[in-house]
Amino acid sequence: MKVAIVTGANAGVGYGVVEHLLETDESLTIVMACRNYSRANHAKARLLQRFPSANIAIELVDVGNVPSVLQFCQNIKKGYQQINYLFCNAGILSALGINWAKTFTMLVTDPVALIERSDATIQAVGEINEDGMGKVFAANVFGHYIMMRDLELLLANSKDGRVVWTSSVTADESCFDINDWQGIKSAIPYESSKWACDLIAIACHERFQAENLPISSFTTSPGVVASNIGDLPGWITQLRKLLHYLMRFIGVTSQNITGYRGATADAYVAMAPLSILHSTTRYLALTDRWGTSFVGEQPLVIDMNAALQLTKKCELAYQAHICKSL
Ligand SMILES: NC(=O)c1ccc[n+]([C@@H]2O[C@H](COP(=O)([O-])OP(=O)(O)OC[C@H]3O[C@@H](n4cnc5c(N)ncnc54)[C@H](OP(=O)(O)O)[C@@H]3O)[C@@H](O)[C@H]2O)c1
Repeated sequence: MKVAIVTGANAGVGYGVVEHLLETDESLTIVMACRNYSRANHAKARLLQRFPSANIAIELVDVGNVPSVLQFCQNIKKGYQQINYLFCNAGILSALGINWAKTFTMLVTDPVALIERSDATIQAVGEINEDGMGKVFAANVFGHYIMMRDLELLLANSKDGRVVWTSSVTADESCFDINDWQGIKSAIPYESSKWACDLIAIACHERFQAENLPISSFTTSPGVVASNIGDLPGWITQLRKLLHYLMRFIGVTSQNITGYRGATADAYVAMAPLSILHSTTRYLALTDRWGTSFVGEQPLVIDMNAALQLTKKCELAYQAHICKSL
């Protein structure tokens, strides 16, 4: 029995990942790893309408809260012998509002960047969660790091365990500082966390290979999806949607708009033969002007030293939480 865990499966890209997986193999067991039962159950009901024989379980977890993630992993270890896919997808962007001056400047100088990036979004700086960690980093990166580590044996049991990290085209090396690895001082904690996902995906893939574990780790980007991330007012999302369609029509292929299209690259790295995949490539969900989805490849040049340092910091924090929970 193949098992896929998808965090944030009730909406946006995560929901799209589940749709792709069930389209490919309806016998797959899906674990919707979500923080809100009612939202998850509503999404599950919608999925079952489309895939009536699907085996879908809801397992509650707050990926931004360590005790919740550890409890989630305990429940998974009790319920499943193996995990084939772990989609590290749930994510937050703490938006305070829009920088309108920047929006209008970018509209004139670089409209593609305006619609592709979150540069004009004002992000909260210095947010700390209950565990004392940078809030955005905790949810987007560390919670998933714990899941991957705690479920490593189950991933290995599948003989081809794949961990898929949802990164973003907006993230690059310039967004991340190892001296502020949790992005607490950063004005762009979201982008910092997404580059951290890339670094961890690559460093962990190398470790799995070095330790001869049958696990791979890949990074993807959903492009631009008109989702609820950032909790911006509905009218801004709707207005942006119009611009997304316009941009797509003039040939900007990152404009996927729907979660389903945004999940194309995640589904690809889950299903493609391992022999054609590269851990240092970010796989991009793309859509052409006529609405045809395809997968692009963006080779990543990363600072391996920073990747190893970051992974070590996460590992130490993970071990400390394990000791505390004993
Ligand atoms: N949208 C884009 O253009 C875009 C671009 C690049 C990358 N991404 C990445 O794609 C991923 C999915 O985002 P999306 O666009 O699909 O956004 P979304 O529609 O807001 O979905 C985010 C999902 O994550 C869940 N989530 C958030 N915080 C959580 C927590 N602490 N514990 C458990 N679940 C949590 C949400 O649950 P609730 O429904 O309960 O809030 C929701 O299911 C994110 O990692 C995001 O960074 C998105």
